[in-house]
Amino acid sequence: MHGKATLALLSAAAIGQVAAEGAPETSGNPPNVVYKATVDKAWFPGAVLPGPLKASISAKAPSDGEGVKFNVHFENLPEEGGPFTYHLHRKAVPADGNCTEASTHLDPYGAGAEIKCDRSAPETCEVGDLSGKYGAIESSPYHASYHDLYAATKEGDEAFFGDLSFVLHYANSTRLACANFVKEEVAPHPTDCHPGNTPVPTGTPTPTGPPGSDPTGPPDSDPTAPVPPPEAGAAQMSVLSIPAMLLGAAAVAFGL
Ligand SMILES: *[C@@H]1O[C@H](CO)[C@@H](O)[C@H](O)[C@H]1NC(C)=O
Ligand SMILES: *[C@@H]1O[C@H](CO)[C@@H](O)[C@H](O)[C@H]1NC(C)=O
Repeated sequence: MHGKATLALLSAAAIGQVAAEGAPETSGNPPNVVYKATVDKAWFPGAVLPGPLKASISAKAPSDGEGVKFNVHFENLPEEGGPFTYHLHRKAVPADGNCTEASTHLDPYGAGAEIKCDRSAPETCEVGDLSGKYGAIESSPYHASYHDLYAATKEGDEAFFGDLSFVLHYANSTRLACANFVKEEVAPHPTDCHPGNTPVPTGTPTPTGPPGSDPTGPPDSDPTAPVPPPEAGAAQMSVLSIPAMLLGAAAVAFGL
């Protein structure tokens, strides 16, 4: 009997802990809507560019509506001042294009920008810290695709960014460029291609970047590999499975 009571307490503690920390996974994101933000010039007046700066983030939910799939593309980044970071921000950019007005990172669950994002536990990062979760930009051109489970394209969700912006930063956090997301409806039928940025296989980010400081930490995972949902849920599953394991052990010990 004592064993059972203890197990119940342990289970409650473990579940409470999971609920208390981290961004929740989003669901019900509309799979027929694309949000896209496109930069076609630098905002920072001191930017030294090898050509016209191009930066775009395209976001669309998968067919099951769980999380959001991102396609990011950056071209003609400055040769100095990287690695570059980029984030979803809390406010839209006004008509004058002033990137300072985009405010701070989208962080509805209060992760904070002070604590470095741990890529192995993306639910503990700011929802908007895309480069923290999936890698900073170490090459130009740069292309990456990934499936984020915490951002939302469902209006009304705390993690909705469809009416917000993203900002591209130098490594020293100076804002280089920014753009607002714009909604694009896509055909209700799945089509093999939609106009605009077809993912380009060149410029794939290489984890073995140039020497120097790497604010994203060790390249412990391939930023080009989209994180499959089952794996991303693994952290929670392992915690939740502890009570199950204990129950199993108890069953043996008590001959239940
Ligand atoms: C940040 O880095 C860029 C590129 O090196 C430089 O132009 C800019 O002045 C720096 N900003 C600050 C605040 O030091
Ligand atoms: C952009 O906005 C900030 C904050 O409101 C302001 O201090 C700055 O002067 C503005 N920059 C430009 C270029 O308008």
